[in-house]
Amino acid sequence: MSSPDRNIALEMVRATEAAAMSASRWMGRGNKEGVDGAAVNAMRFVLNTVRMDGLVVIGEGEKDNAPMLFNGEKLGLGGEPKVDIAVDPVDGTRLTALGLQNAVSVVAFAERGTMYDPKHIFYMEKIATGPAAADVIDINAPISDNIIAVAKALGKRPEDVTIILLDRPRHEKLIAEIRQVSARLRLIMDGDVAGALATCKSDSGIDLLVGVGGSPEAVITACAIKCVGGNMQCKLWPRNEDEANKCKENGMDLKQVLTLNDLVASDNVYFAATGVTDGDWLNGVKYVGDTIKTSSLVMRSESGTIRYIDAEHKYKKLDMLGDVNY
Ligand code: FBP
Repeated sequence: MSSPDRNIALEMVRATEAAAMSASRWMGRGNKEGVDGAAVNAMRFVLNTVRMDGLVVIGEGEKDNAPMLFNGEKLGLGGEPKVDIAVDPVDGTRLTALGLQNAVSVVAFAERGTMYDPKHIFYMEKIATGPAAADVIDINAPISDNIIAVAKALGKRPEDVTIILLDRPRHEKLIAEIRQVSARLRLIMDGDVAGALATCKSDSGIDLLVGVGGSPEAVITACAIKCVGGNMQCKLWPRNEDEANKCKENGMDLKQVLTLNDLVASDNVYFAATGVTDGDWLNGVKYVGDTIKTSSLVMRSESGTIRYIDAEHKYKKLDMLGDVNY
């Protein structure tokens, strides 16, 4: 079986650009489903033009019944390469619907059979950090220990460590523990993929991501971190007894620490992202005259290359080329 070829990276960016541009039309309109629907259609349309046998292992939307690229869906024109696909047409649909920062469109590819399938478990506990503190995080250790270890690795004081965390009632205890160590907190409404990625960007000012977020987003983030360097550990987080029991039936160990390699076993992983709204790493979609400007990145774990792609699109021409409305 052939591995995904590096030229596939540009095809991936076309897909995230298309999804970001389509979603961006819905910015601030207060309609999450509109954002998601537009992005899903655009991404499916573009990925179906790629020469590959793509299998969606990580789709998104099931958790909140949003429009989705569903798990098991086949994408592409067929033939080689055979790839697993993890996709989130917009991570931050609510952020986009409200015109807030850090919504991104993301997709990851890896060789067939190498991405973790979280099955019915919608959430995972996560800890992620960039390359400088990659070796010191431990999801089983108290948060205070992690903060102290990360501070040491980064050559700063614990109170200088900045942690990004989804603002959710389930994190009340964690937030209190973080505050006890006087570390700095950035609570976000949504978007823990962009949050985790920010920890890998040395000048983002964000050092650590912790907390419970989506399982699909965990696998996508693991693909990104494999490319950019850094580390992430996760644990399945069933919401209730029913989900926990199903884990037992499926042989899924709730105590297992899922490492980067568990989440994506391949060493030939590709990740692409385009900003929907302005963010810590990427600019959002902008409209200038008859041009739409997008800002993207694409990376590959095998080479470690990170490519930034600023593109200008002529929507009148694009609208004539396909079924997507830009
Ligand atoms: P979507 O925009 O794709 O719906 O995801 C937003 C998000 O905040 C993710 O970044 C995060 O992993 C997940 O939702 C958290 O789930 P919940 O909102 O249910 O706590």
